[in-house]
Amino acid sequence: MNATTSLSPEHLKTLETQAIAQLNACSNLAELEHAKVELLGRSGSLTLLKRGLKDVPAEDRPSVGASLNALSQAVESVHDEIKARLDADALNAQLREETIDVTLPGRVLPVGKVHPLSQITEDVCRLFEGMGFSVLDDNACPEVETEFFNFEALNFPADHPARDMQDTYYTEVASNVLLRSQTSNAQIRHMSQHKPPIRVIAPGRVYRNEEVSSRKYVLFHQIEGLYVDKNVTFADLKGTLNAFITELFGGNERPTRFRPSYFPFTEPSAEVDVQCLFCQGDGCKVCGHSGWLEILGAGMVHPNVLENCGIDSTVYQGFAFGMGVERLAMLRDAIDDIRIFYTNDQRFLKQFKPKY
Ligand code: PHE
Repeated sequence: MNATTSLSPEHLKTLETQAIAQLNACSNLAELEHAKVELLGRSGSLTLLKRGLKDVPAEDRPSVGASLNALSQAVESVHDEIKARLDADALNAQLREETIDVTLPGRVLPVGKVHPLSQITEDVCRLFEGMGFSVLDDNACPEVETEFFNFEALNFPADHPARDMQDTYYTEVASNVLLRSQTSNAQIRHMSQHKPPIRVIAPGRVYRNEEVSSRKYVLFHQIEGLYVDKNVTFADLKGTLNAFITELFGGNERPTRFRPSYFPFTEPSAEVDVQCLFCQGDGCKVCGHSGWLEILGAGMVHPNVLENCGIDSTVYQGFAFGMGVERLAMLRDAIDDIRIFYTNDQRFLKQFKPKY
């Protein structure tokens, strides 16, 4: 084929049709780019065609040249159209893939709740803080304690049968080292370091070798209270505890009773019971068929205890109390088995709404 035939208008028309068909056959941008290079690139078939122009008779060159340019432009404009379409397709596909479905449900982040025992401890501390007590730091009163702070300084003589009141876990660290059986060690620890007036609350964990039942467990929590000043009377103790119990149970007075009792470190001593919430006093499994739940022990600080801590018992008097945290929580939240506090059962724990 000589230059004239290869550049004849008919042939150029055929080439144009072929080139456009080749571009139209491209289904993606990579193929299209490839086709463009094949047609219009530096060694592309249409580019090379222009080299034959020099063999065209001089008089025909302007018109053949114009036809060749028109061919390139036509192919280029078809290429641009297809490219625009494929670009739009690619963008749409990307947008479809990255679409955020705003109707999907959100991810729920599990939120922990305060354990009911921590909750009630916090509530009790707040109520006493409102009455001018301050809360002692945990570290001030250790759980692993010596006999001296757990018993001796609290007026339990070495061989006094009162030590049998609380079945104590002794450690193997030394014969006088034990797991405290009561938070009353806080009384000694605090009074030997501070002078009256004293108004403190000491929450903490205690241990006793108990037979486990719906009411008793081998570890439990107590909150100790101590008030020492001049002219403190049993009436102050009763008034303070009644005000506290009323507040704790939602501002309505619940039947309580102060029973005479005995503790070596208080004289006189009392135990305070709240009427059983489950049977309203009729007697049930939870209250041991007594109709009452014991929530705390209390009394006037024994003069020997004040003296053991270097406080002059002829000048100062005080009252002390120690309450069972589990008992309080059971009463307030209608829980009928103490063991459930320690199982970490989510179905139980989830029922308590955080209050702070
Ligand atoms: N520590 C006593 C107990 O565990 C309670 C108590 C504390 C009694 C303070 C009187 C004064 O039972």
